[in-house]
Amino acid sequence: MVQLVLYRKYRPQTFSEVINQKNTILALTNALKNGRISHAYLFAGPRGTGKTSVARILAKALNCLNRKPDQFEPCNQCDHCVEINEGRFLDLVEIDAASTRGIDDVRELRENIKFPPLKAKYKVFIIDEAHQLTKDAFNALLKTLEEPPQYVIFILATTEPEKLPPTVLSRLQRYDFRKLALQDIIDRLAYICHQENISYEEEALRLVAVYSEGGLRDAESLLGQIALITNNNITKESIEELMGVMNFEKVKRFINLLLHKDKEKALSFINEIYEEGADLELFNKEVINYLRKLMLLKISPSLSHILDRETTDEEMAVLFKQIEMCDLSYLERLLRGLIEVQFQLKKAPVITLPLELFISEELG
Ligand SMILES: Nc1ncnc2c1ncn2[C@@H]1O[C@H](COP(=O)(O)OP(=O)(O)O)[C@@H](O)[C@H]1O
Ligand SMILES: [Mg+2]
Ligand SMILES: [Zn+2]
Repeated sequence: MVQLVLYRKYRPQTFSEVINQKNTILALTNALKNGRISHAYLFAGPRGTGKTSVARILAKALNCLNRKPDQFEPCNQCDHCVEINEGRFLDLVEIDAASTRGIDDVRELRENIKFPPLKAKYKVFIIDEAHQLTKDAFNALLKTLEEPPQYVIFILATTEPEKLPPTVLSRLQRYDFRKLALQDIIDRLAYICHQENISYEEEALRLVAVYSEGGLRDAESLLGQIALITNNNITKESIEELMGVMNFEKVKRFINLLLHKDKEKALSFINEIYEEGADLELFNKEVINYLRKLMLLKISPSLSHILDRETTDEEMAVLFKQIEMCDLSYLERLLRGLIEVQFQLKKAPVITLPLELFISEELG
């Protein structure tokens, strides 16, 4: 099961190990060298680009017992560094604003903040998914941001900085994390494969990198899953197969919502996959393809031979089940509407809107 946690095992532990975030790292390390520490940071950027990792490295550097004033790297050897690496350092508090606990945590934060650190120089609060904080939590936070005690450092991390109130934003020193370049992801995956004795085809790693759309965490998790399934022998074919299965599952779920005319869930679904980084044009095309298969099979099961080459046996079984739940005219209507949507997607002012309108009108 080792592979499943590849992304944790390969979390960068020093600034120099962080890939692709040159400007951010340069600014942070310079500030450390010059002793110009801000008390509230914002790390903004897509998921899997290093925000949490850098927040922890910064927490380590600030509290490292071996770091000289003109250096910036944490030693990863002293008690403080080791405890942070093991997730048991009492003066580092990590709050996940997305969890219900997060809300209570922020409430407690104002109490907590009154006490100086137990043994370190700084008490560091990392607030992850900060855009999910409630209004009350933001207000509580704002009060503390207005006059933070000298020993307190806040690091807010978020994928959606535009959702933070301007009053909070204006108190934070902002760093933007960028998506990783394709080649950098490929190189990192290759490095991990060598470390883990996983054999791979170059082209397979490229596919994983493309699929993860600039986020290294997703790339590393996917690599781990595939290594497990393929017994550490990653081929282009194995990747294509797995991605095919994942895509089919996604499209199948959406089609089920269409067939059940579940407007609300269908709308949420579209927005969810969009937030996850799906390309809606590509997705819609796959939905059309899928509905075409349903239409052909609905007209006559004997037409399945047309679909043989692009459909696995398991998929075919699912399709046959789904044609039980719908009639031909509904399928035709969906198809006609979605073909229209395909054109609209190219120039939509709001990219989710063509599909949303379609769902709103057709599933009524
Ligand atoms: N810039 C990066 N350099 C090296 N590894 C990275 C980078 N970004 C992400 N990773 C990998 O992805 C994992 C998750 O990264 P994390 O810092 O939690 O991302 P975020 O908080 O931005 O979602 C890390 O453990 C590491 O394996
Ligand atoms: Mg994170
Ligand atoms: Zn140290």
